[in-house]
Amino acid sequence: MSVLVDCAPARNSAASRPGLAPLLPVVGADTEVPLVPGGRIRYADLDSAASSRALVSVAEQVAAALPLYASVHRGAGYLSQVSTALYESARERIAAFVGARDDDVCVVTRHTTDALNLLAGCVPDGGAVLVLDCEHHADLLPWQRRGAVTVLPTEPTVVATLRALGTELARTRYALVAVTGASNVTGESLPLADVVALARAAGARVLVDGAQLVPHRAFSLAATGADYVVFSGHKTYAPFGAGALVGRRDWLDAGPAYLAGGGAVHEVSVEETSWAPAPHRHEGGSPNVLGAVALAAACEALAGLPAGALEEHERALRDRLSEGLTALPGVRLLRIWADSEEPTGVVGFIVDGADPGLLAAYLSAEHGIGVRDGRFCAHPLLARLGVPEGALRASVGVGSTLDDVDRLVDAVAEFLARGPGNRYELGSGRWQPVGDPRPLAGLGGADPAVVARGAGCGPAPR
Ligand SMILES: Cc1ncc(COP(=O)(O)O)c(C=O)c1O
Repeated sequence: MSVLVDCAPARNSAASRPGLAPLLPVVGADTEVPLVPGGRIRYADLDSAASSRALVSVAEQVAAALPLYASVHRGAGYLSQVSTALYESARERIAAFVGARDDDVCVVTRHTTDALNLLAGCVPDGGAVLVLDCEHHADLLPWQRRGAVTVLPTEPTVVATLRALGTELARTRYALVAVTGASNVTGESLPLADVVALARAAGARVLVDGAQLVPHRAFSLAATGADYVVFSGHKTYAPFGAGALVGRRDWLDAGPAYLAGGGAVHEVSVEETSWAPAPHRHEGGSPNVLGAVALAAACEALAGLPAGALEEHERALRDRLSEGLTALPGVRLLRIWADSEEPTGVVGFIVDGADPGLLAAYLSAEHGIGVRDGRFCAHPLLARLGVPEGALRASVGVGSTLDDVDRLVDAVAEFLARGPGNRYELGSGRWQPVGDPRPLAGLGGADPAVVARGAGCGPAPR
């Protein structure tokens, strides 16, 4: 049995009310999935914070680039030159989308994790790094591995957290403050302008982990005064393997090449190598042309939305979701700060007495709804929020609708009222429906248990 894929653009005629229709058409909006009790249903994708489906316009631009594809930066052939131009113009469009200054560099990376590891190698020796304990592991582990990193406890309010940040910056000299643009667990943010002002006053630079911010809110390096931003194409409606690191040139020109190899050099002899400046210095190997084209296309589609439309769409969905879930008995929404401003469309929650993994498996098996469960690669934050065993997360994007959100709220209500309709058992660290008849389309019938064995962010303690 194959998944029915409808790549036709969703019609936006019902969009008079925010959230009724997708804001932008995504590939696979009408994909149906099988249910364990039988039958099929349109997949309700409420996991775009993990990975978002491609925009139709992204898929179209990738399809248009494919016949022109050839080697980049190396070939004399006409199509090599076209591909090189496509790649370099994509770089410029990505940089423009995040408000890069004239002298900033845009390195095309694989994703946010890649970009943060790259930058960690370029922070000058001896330069200390400061982060908060609410970061995704991608904005913690590269610094931890590098050496001197201070992890500041997040305080219960934004005001107190900024005060603690200011105190720490006054106490110790830091080269870099690495801060999340929006939490992948709650969608909340610290006011970036305040973080930048505190860091500037103490002579530190600021890196914004934009993985959950850039796809959902307008962001500008120039306007915020931040020094670096990193983000992922696969969370920005361009799942073709590219991400970006954009920011100040000096550290990136001075740091060691991220990958030693072809494309990153000026001159090589058997004794020594002179490395190219950034961005090529950090793009050793053959570049991901189609990934860059896809990411640039997604950036332009988001930038082309009317002012405020993205926020309005996500606000309508998030409000409906938060209100619906909060009204259910025993459901608690996660929150880092009591006084934070409007979050993005990420809602972390727990249901009293319900194992998050079991609930997620039920939502998938009996309702065709995709959410995330576990510890979201943010173990220190989950511990701070008092849910070290994990939680659930629903997240919306430009392809989400009120119908998706309503289906989730109704399904959780049904679970609370009568429990799951199927039996579930724990195997390889994940809950699975007993007697799951669903084939895994496109994987040649791979055993679901094999899929469940992926390491993810580490199993939740049980
Ligand atoms: C806030 C945040 N930072 C970094 C990452 C890592 O992104 P990637 O897996 O694309 O490298 C994620 C992924 O979930 C994230 O949510």
